[in-house]
Order: sequence, then structure tokens, then C-alpha cells
Amino acid sequence: MSEYPTIPLTTYREYPVDEMRQRVTDFYADMGRRRTVREFSDRAVPRDIIETALEAAGTAPSGANLQPWHFVVVGAADTKKKIREAAEAEEQEFYEHRASPEWLAALEPLGTDSSKPFLETAPYLIAVFLQKYGRLDDGRKVKHYYPTESTGLATGILITALHQAGLATLTHTPSPMKFLNEILGRPVSERPFLLLVVGYPADDAQVPDIERKDLDAFTTFIEDQT
Ligand SMILES: Cc1cc2nc3c(=O)[nH]c(=O)nc-3n(C[C@H](O)[C@H](O)[C@H](O)COP(=O)(O)O)c2cc1C
Repeated sequence: MSEYPTIPLTTYREYPVDEMRQRVTDFYADMGRRRTVREFSDRAVPRDIIETALEAAGTAPSGANLQPWHFVVVGAADTKKKIREAAEAEEQEFYEHRASPEWLAALEPLGTDSSKPFLETAPYLIAVFLQKYGRLDDGRKVKHYYPTESTGLATGILITALHQAGLATLTHTPSPMKFLNEILGRPVSERPFLLLVVGYPADDAQVPDIERKDLDAFTTFIEDQT
């Protein structure tokens, strides 16, 4: 086996089984309250909360530990306006021409359309970029392994951290999102992954009345008989 530097695992914590049960139950109950919000308040959110949530996202596991993600946090009104205008142009094309009838039918229960006022109302937009490859200081390319899976995991942790902090999010994917590279000045090595809208919900925010699948419908256990 090759030699590589190690440190003792001091961060792991074991809990008594009853406490494990309580912790996971509490976590599930809390995550069960998360909803995608599409009506935001313009109330300001302290920037340090966003920073800490991003630090949490940066703890995600990643293929070969290459951490192939980049987050652009947009709080500036003029940049939010540019993003809204570009997103609405793409979305109008999508709803009127590009979306298949099946796709439009799947979106119908959500009541979404090409109008995206939340892109200006919400205090923060976080554009998540996936780094297809990295660059060494001398300019050479570094291959990234599983960048999609890795960036998805980091984004999941980010959404979870923001929810835990008491903020609402909207996972937004205007299609296509290439305009984000231009507006936000990101290199061609990065692919826009999604745009997270972050803030407090509007006082009168409504959400679609939709169901989550039961555990049995999305899980299979294979175990030895006891
Ligand atoms: C990858 C992904 C892309 C999404 N894109 C959009 C979007 O562009 N616009 C939108 O309004 N919601 C979007 N959503 C939100 C979903 O519609 C929402 O998560 C789903 O309806 C379940 O609702 P919930 O998050 O409240 O549980 C997206 C979610 C994911 C995970």
C-alpha cells in the first residue's frame, strides 16, 4: 500500500442508540418543513449567515477530494436585474417553444411560468457552478472526477444549511443557463449548475399543494432474516 499522510479521526461522534433515534427523527421533522418558495420578501439577510452556509456546503464529499464547485453570491441590485432579464428571456423561449408537452404537463401542478420577479426581490442569489476541470498554477488542466455528483451533494448541504438557519430557498434552473457565465464572469471550464434564490418568504407566500412519496415507494431494504 502506498504511504500517505494521515491524522487520527477525532471529529467522529457516537451517540447512544436512543439519542441517535431522537436526532434523526428531529432532523427528518425539520427537513420535512422545507419547501421551495417562489414568493420572497426583500428583507435583508446577514451576509455572514450565507457565508457559514457556504462553508457547510464546502464540507461535502467530492470525487478524489477535488471540490469541483464554485459559488457566486449576488446581492447587488444591478446584477440581480441582469440575471432576471436573461433568465426571463430564456424561460419565455422555454415555455413557448422549447419545452415538450410532457414537461409542461409535469410543471403544471407547480404553477410556474416565465415571470421571475423573485430574482430581483430576494436579497441573495447564489449561482452554483460545476467545474468541469481545474487548472494548475502553470495553466495545465486537472481532470475532475464525478463533478456532477459532487456539486449536487454540496448544493444539497447548502440548501439544508440555509433551511436550518431559517431561510427559504428556490432551486431555479432557467434553461439554458449559459448567460450566468457571461454576467458573472466565470470561465468556460465552469458549467452553471443551478441558481439558488435565498431569503425570507413573503408574508403571504403560498406553495403548491403537492405530496412526497412514502418511504416504501422509494426505498428497498435487503437484509438477512433474523
Ligand atoms: C434540479 C432542480 C431544478 C429545479 N428547477 C426549478 C425551476 O427552475 N423553477 C422552479 O420554480 N422550481 C424548480 N425546482 C423546485 C422543484 O419544483 C421543487 O423542489 C419540487 O416541486 C418539490 O417541492 P418542494 O421543494 O417544496 O418539496 C427545481 C428543483 C430541483 C431539484
